[in-house]
Amino acid sequence: MFKETDKKFKFETETLRKGAYVDFPVDNPESMPIYLTTAYNVEDLDDLQARYDAKGYCYNRNRNPNRGALINLMTYLENGEASIACSSGMAAISTAIISNVKQGDHILSDKTLYGETIELIEDLLGNFGVESTFVDFTDLNEVKAAVKPNTKLLYAETIANPMITVPDIGAIAKIAHENGAILVVDNTFMTAYGFKPLDHGADLVVNSLTKFANGHSDSVAGSVTGSQKLITKAHALQVLVGSSLDAFTAWLVQRGIRTLNLRLKKQMENALALAKALEKSPYVLKVNYPGLESHPQHEFAKKQFPKGFGGMLSFVMPDDRKKINEFMRKLNLAHYAMTLGGYRTTLSHPVMSSHSTVPESVRRAMGITDGLMRVSIGIEDTEDLVNDFIQALEVFKK
Ligand SMILES: Cc1ncc(COP(=O)(O)O)c(C=O)c1O
Repeated sequence: MFKETDKKFKFETETLRKGAYVDFPVDNPESMPIYLTTAYNVEDLDDLQARYDAKGYCYNRNRNPNRGALINLMTYLENGEASIACSSGMAAISTAIISNVKQGDHILSDKTLYGETIELIEDLLGNFGVESTFVDFTDLNEVKAAVKPNTKLLYAETIANPMITVPDIGAIAKIAHENGAILVVDNTFMTAYGFKPLDHGADLVVNSLTKFANGHSDSVAGSVTGSQKLITKAHALQVLVGSSLDAFTAWLVQRGIRTLNLRLKKQMENALALAKALEKSPYVLKVNYPGLESHPQHEFAKKQFPKGFGGMLSFVMPDDRKKINEFMRKLNLAHYAMTLGGYRTTLSHPVMSSHSTVPESVRRAMGITDGLMRVSIGIEDTEDLVNDFIQALEVFKK
């Protein structure tokens, strides 16, 4: 604790010490204060030891109260025993994976994933001698057949980016456990509002909190949640690589999450309405949304996602760049942004953003074409949103 003393020091010294506290006690603020401090003053070596023993606050990279508060919230939401909060979704994904594999191990992963996750598993971890295979996780026979004696980790997204496919997390967890492996699930697209992977047997759940969880497109953050044992390992790695989330961003994300249920409910309603309208449009070749009867996993998705089918969809337009540009310029409400999950509807073009680093042959195998547009649905008035897409699609009229 910083020492207040009656002893008087010179101007240069007092400038460093005065004003550290206010006179009136500031207990129980309605909103949690932001702890912008790198470290905490320690009374003596016994105090230091007590802090180590109680996992108390010493240094910001290890622990910070705002990160702690967000961690408690995520642990509750995802129904785990513990969490870590990371400087981005990718920091969370890499910490979750790297804390559980070593040279010679094999990762078995869904072939449809966020592009940089594929790059992390295949290229970065490949350079360190970790093997990987990517198969279609909506085909359980393919998953079973691809397991190897050295498979240590299976990896899936609740709703896979950008084809919006829905793997059966419970069945995949069973395959992982029967083979002595763990399952890590990225729940970014659905969030704990719509689905809790740990309740279905996943061992770790990762979230890019940058997206729907925070929901305001103003912060980059991530989390990993799971058992105390796995999170202790992940936290140890996080401290070494320095992927800890800063206090201010942790505070912003926690504030954003307070309205998660309201936003997701409306985003899911809007997504279903827009998906149905796009499916009827003569200018749209295909719509990928689990709430549509045409979606290959629709019946299963109804069981897995009782609250709704999420706020993400993708749809296919003719591969005509000029017309696609015209369509984008004609939209009044949905603008292009290289993110997702915000309160406003945004567009993204997987070929030119999220999957630009994925080789074209792999992209094609996933079904990602130049005409594929991914839409992250916002909380606009439903009619306004649908009408705006429909009028913009008129550019495809001959
Ligand atoms: C499904 C999914 N997971 C993880 C990430 C990475 O999140 P971040 O940008 O917070 O690192 C993204 C980014 O778009 C994503 O779409």
